[in-house]
This record gives sequence, C-alpha cells and structure tokens, in this order.
Amino acid sequence: MIKSIAVMTSGGDSPGMNAASRAVVRTALFTGAKVWGINNGYHGLLEEDMFEMQSKNVGDIIQRGGTFLGTARCRRWQTPEGRMQGYKNLVDRGIQGLVVIGGDGSLRGAELLSQETGFPIVGLPGTIDNDVWGTDYTIGCDTAANTIIDAINKLRDTASAHRRAIVLEVMGRSSGWLAMTAGISGGAEYILVPEEEYDLDEIAKEMKASYDAGKRYIMIVVAEGAGSGKKIGQELWEKSGIDTRVSILGYVQRGGSPSVIDRVKASMLGESAALAILSGLSDIVFGFQKGNVVSINLHDAVTNKKHLDPDLIHLAKVLA
Ligand code: F6P
Repeated sequence: MIKSIAVMTSGGDSPGMNAASRAVVRTALFTGAKVWGINNGYHGLLEEDMFEMQSKNVGDIIQRGGTFLGTARCRRWQTPEGRMQGYKNLVDRGIQGLVVIGGDGSLRGAELLSQETGFPIVGLPGTIDNDVWGTDYTIGCDTAANTIIDAINKLRDTASAHRRAIVLEVMGRSSGWLAMTAGISGGAEYILVPEEEYDLDEIAKEMKASYDAGKRYIMIVVAEGAGSGKKIGQELWEKSGIDTRVSILGYVQRGGSPSVIDRVKASMLGESAALAILSGLSDIVFGFQKGNVVSINLHDAVTNKKHLDPDLIHLAKVLA
C-alpha cells in the first residue's frame, strides 16, 4: 500500500479544482496516508515548492474558484531533464504517487513523467473546455457554461434595446463544447464552433431577412477556436447592414464560485483518484460517462481527440 502521495493543479485553472484537491487530501488522510501539496503546477514541482498537508489546509476552499495550490504553464517540464528533476524531487521526499489535475496538455506532461520514470500517476480532467477524451465532463465546465449564459442574458437586454446583433466570443481553446452548450442554453440564434463549417454570407442573408420580418435582435455565440469574434462581427455588420457589436468574454469564464455540479463531481473524482493512487494504480484518468465515475487509460485520454456531440449540433440548428 502506498503511504505518501502528492497532488497538484496544472494548466488553465477552473472552478472546482479546489473541490477536487480537497477531496484528494481528505481521502488520503482518511486512509492514514501522507499527502503533499505542490504549488504552481510543474513549475513548483521543479522548484521543490511543496508542503505536507493536513485537513485544515483544504478548509474553506470548496466554495472558491481558481486553485489554492496555484498553477502555471511550465516550459521546463517539456524537457526530459526537467521531468527527471521533478521525479527526483518527488522521490527524495518519499512521495510514491502523484495526482495531476489539469487539461489535456497537463495530462500529457504527466504521461511523459510516467513513461520516462515509471512513477505512478493518476490524472483528473481539470479544464473549463470539456475537451478531454473519454469523459463527458471536466472540472469547471459547468460553472463556465453558467457564466456564459449569464453574459448572454445580459447581452440580450441591450441587443433588444438597440435592435442590434451581438457576437459573443467564448473560450474553449479548440473545442466548441462551451459555445454549443451555453449557446443552446442561452437561446442563441447562431453558434459557430470549430467542429462545423459555417458561411457568413448565408448567416448575414438570414439575419437581414429576420430583421425585415420584424426580429428585434440576434445573438451569435462564437467559440474562440472557430474564429475571431471581432472579425466575424465586423463581417456580419458589413454583409447584413445590421448594427452588430462584439463582446469577448475572456477570463471571466475561468473564475467564479464553482456550481453544485462542479463541486460534487470534482469531489467524487478527487476521492476516486486518491483511492486509486493509494492502491497502487497508475496511468489512468478518472472522468464521468453517463453520470458514473469511470477510469480511462491515460494514454488514450491524451492521444484521442474528443468530438462534439452531433446531437447537440443538430439540436442547435432545430432550436435556432
Ligand atoms: O484551456 C482552458 C483555457 O481557458 C482555454 O479555453 C483558453 O483558450 C486557454 O485556457 C487560455 O490559456 P491562458 O490562460 O494560458 O491564456
């Protein structure tokens, strides 16, 4: 039985990361194991910025967005020398397993550590993008989607007041899940995602026809991976003649107190990860499929591309 593990958060932060870290720590302590916190992701692992945790270290954090451990994007981790240094820093402290909470890039970095050193790794999908293969859910995606629909609700007011079209650009890196889910929930007329072709001439023509028929305003949600919201807004204004304004939601999507779904699901994943690493399992990522916690092979999770649900894409067209 493993008796000492570490947990870290890496890559883009997301609401619910604290709930996941808290569950890893409290589950490990509950079994009588030691648990270390690594500050600032792989950067902290290389700088030996780590500390042994007690239950109180994860008190009063479940409601907080971001990650109390800190995170970073670490170039040195991209090198075998960097990873070997990280491995040494873990072993020197008697740490026998590592839980990495992060997106696909962070999980890929974890896989390299495991491949090069055999060090036990369990991953959790921590990203608002919901773009990790093998899981229907990633920590933070629900809170981020709710942040977006709050913005859509507010934008509809001013769009309606001025009879304007509004383009809202949202995050998701190269995945359209946030745009699609929030666009459908927010009742957007158009949702542009990297997974689907779109024709701005066609959209502009339809916009003009709807305005001629008396439509008061139009919401267009654009995933950042589908193009520049600013450029798309400009083009639609020129092509349709409709006063079109642009909002780029940006980093507000990464913050905020996590939703109930993110807190509960992140806690379930954190418990599963701690129990797995303590029982000697490695090279797996925990996620959700059809509402149940599942374990996914780490290599599969980082080498396969997750596809946007075609039923969601169809639904958006039907409801527009
Ligand atoms: O991966 C999460 C994410 O928020 C993406 O949606 C976004 O494109 C990216 O991180 C931004 O990265 P950074 O925080 O390094 O600017």
